Amino acid sequence: MTFKLVSDLQLKAKTVFCRVDFNVPLDGTRITDDRRIQAALPTLRWMIDQGARVVCASHLGRPKGQRKQEFSLAPVAVRLAELLGQDVRFAADCVGAEAAALRDSLENGQVGLLENLRFHEGETKGAQDFAASLAKGYDAFVNDAFGAAHRAHASVSGVSGLIPVRAAGFLMAREIESLSKLIREPRRPYYAILGGAKVSDKIELVEKLIEKVDGLLIGGAMAYTFLAAQGHEIGSSRVESDKLDLARHLESLAASRKVAIHLPIDHLIGTSIDGKSVLGLSATPGVEIPAGGIGVDIGPQTIESFRARLAPETQTVLWNGPVGFFEAAGCDKGTRRLAEHLAGMSAFTVLGGGDTAAAARVFGLEDEFAHVSTGGGAALELLSGTTLPGVAALER
Ligand code: 3PG
Repeated sequence: MTFKLVSDLQLKAKTVFCRVDFNVPLDGTRITDDRRIQAALPTLRWMIDQGARVVCASHLGRPKGQRKQEFSLAPVAVRLAELLGQDVRFAADCVGAEAAALRDSLENGQVGLLENLRFHEGETKGAQDFAASLAKGYDAFVNDAFGAAHRAHASVSGVSGLIPVRAAGFLMAREIESLSKLIREPRRPYYAILGGAKVSDKIELVEKLIEKVDGLLIGGAMAYTFLAAQGHEIGSSRVESDKLDLARHLESLAASRKVAIHLPIDHLIGTSIDGKSVLGLSATPGVEIPAGGIGVDIGPQTIESFRARLAPETQTVLWNGPVGFFEAAGCDKGTRRLAEHLAGMSAFTVLGGGDTAAAARVFGLEDEFAHVSTGGGAALELLSGTTLPGVAALER
């Protein structure tokens, strides 16, 4: 890595603009998953111990330049204070007089949080004047927001050249190091498990992985597009009918590189879906799905065959996307069994993508993997070989 780490900076009595990704799910004002806040704690604690004056800035949701109360970071300030065990002052705006007052009020070792950056449209537009307002009065820029590193936004890349020194936080560095291992010289055998809804979201990732892996295991709704492209019956399962040629292209690319793509050989299907409940569940005897059947999980034979592929000698596994509708009662078996299998492996196991991390957490297995990424889109882009604007800005 060619950028500085927060621990390389002299931060005593310095005022730090710290970009974090506190884009957490909320139910009203209740934070339903504080993993992203927890993930920033090592960097924040380090700076506190050094005697820095730390102002945190984050986005929450997509308020599109409007000040909307449901996207306020105020509940996050409360949770952050609980986790740090110290007061966290909150400014009701991220620029202007309130933000400046917060910045100037902090003593050494104190922390503040600014209101949602995306209440100003200059943030997502990467506007230079907005970046200049954010950057004003700071001695150092620390970026620990890996989850937002794929956005060329004002607080991610815009402020970088406007503050005298810059460095990555520990989370940012750990994410880049762990994910980069999967694209630079991964230890073999290397398998990737891909799931989730759409092939179209992951085209670049699949193409990149085909260059790297020894085999790809595909489940989730994505698999039905591949199966339909091969001419199998998929009933009423979710499919991207305009992506059948793409699926065929990816299959032939894989074949040309002698990389096996393993698709489900049987399925759990339902007759209808109502929110998070699936009615009329049954297993198919084989790969074909009868008319009206909706695929909701990989079947028992597929679970066994996927587990067999992930043999003990496997050295590296990337998992991106659940292999079924695990949130629905009775439909979590495929995702759960794979998670349990991976958790028991000695391989370097990396989970990328919000849904996969959520599944691991639901199963209580979150701590059993080598790395669980806090980034959804950012992890996907990094693994697809894209240079992330947030990382490039630190390297400048
Ligand atoms: C995420 O949740 O993936 C990050 O916080 C980025 O959010 P965004 O997709 O709204 O930019």
